Amino acid sequence: MRERRPRLLVTLLALAATAALTAGPLPKLPADRVLPQWGDSPGQVTFSHRNHVDEAAPDCLACHSGVFSLLGRTGSRTDSGIRHAAMERGRQCGACHDGTRASGLEDCAHCHVEK
Ligand code: HEC
Ligand code: HEC
Ligand code: HEC
Repeated sequence: MRERRPRLLVTLLALAATAALTAGPLPKLPADRVLPQWGDSPGQVTFSHRNHVDEAAPDCLACHSGVFSLLGRTGSRTDSGIRHAAMERGRQCGACHDGTRASGLEDCAHCHVEK
């Protein structure tokens, strides 16, 4: 798996460069992703690239791959998953959702949609 990373990074940089050069609509962003639920999660969380990427100034590197793997595995069942213990330490979604850079973790319904 490890040798795939440079190629992914090149693809990512190419996407960002293309978008910056054309200043037109971005190439298709990944589809919204319903994150797998853990423990007593109060409801599904859907991550939306569309709501996190400014098309005029796309900053993919704000998250990839320091905060989230480009392989899309951080929130999957095959990796450690997204947990509040990590978020409260300023990792994963908590890298921004700390009440300063973005809304904090106390408004559950901001992210969790109750069934
Ligand atoms: C605010 C953080 C954030 C930003 C900014 C961001 N992503 Fe992501 N990206 C995520 C998350 C969260 C996932 C879900 C992956 C996971 O569980 O690790 C993901 C997954 C992906 C995946 C894997 C495919 C998938 O559907 O899971 C690709 C490819 C990707 N992002 C590309 C991009 C590109 C290109 C940009 C810039 C235009 C971008 N991302 C900007 C957070 C971000
Ligand atoms: C690079 C910083 C960053 C990261 C990392 C990040 N967000 Fe956000 N997010 C923002 C900003 C900025 C906003 C818009 C302002 C606000 O809601 O505070 C936002 C808005 C949102 C919203 C409201 C808009 C919408 O999508 O409906 C949700 C829900 C959300 N984020 C969920 C998440 C989840 C879940 C994760 C982790 C998988 C995550 N965010 C990671 C910066 C980030
Ligand atoms: C910034 C987005 C965000 C906010 C706000 C948020 N969560 Fe979460 N939470 C997540 C994500 C992403 C997951 C992982 C997916 C899942 O398990 O549903 C998660 C998982 C959980 C889990 C199960 C895993 C764990 O870490 O224990 C619980 C319990 C939970 N959240 C409770 C809450 C409560 C209670 C609140 C409000 C006080 C809250 N969450 C606010 C994003 C958020």
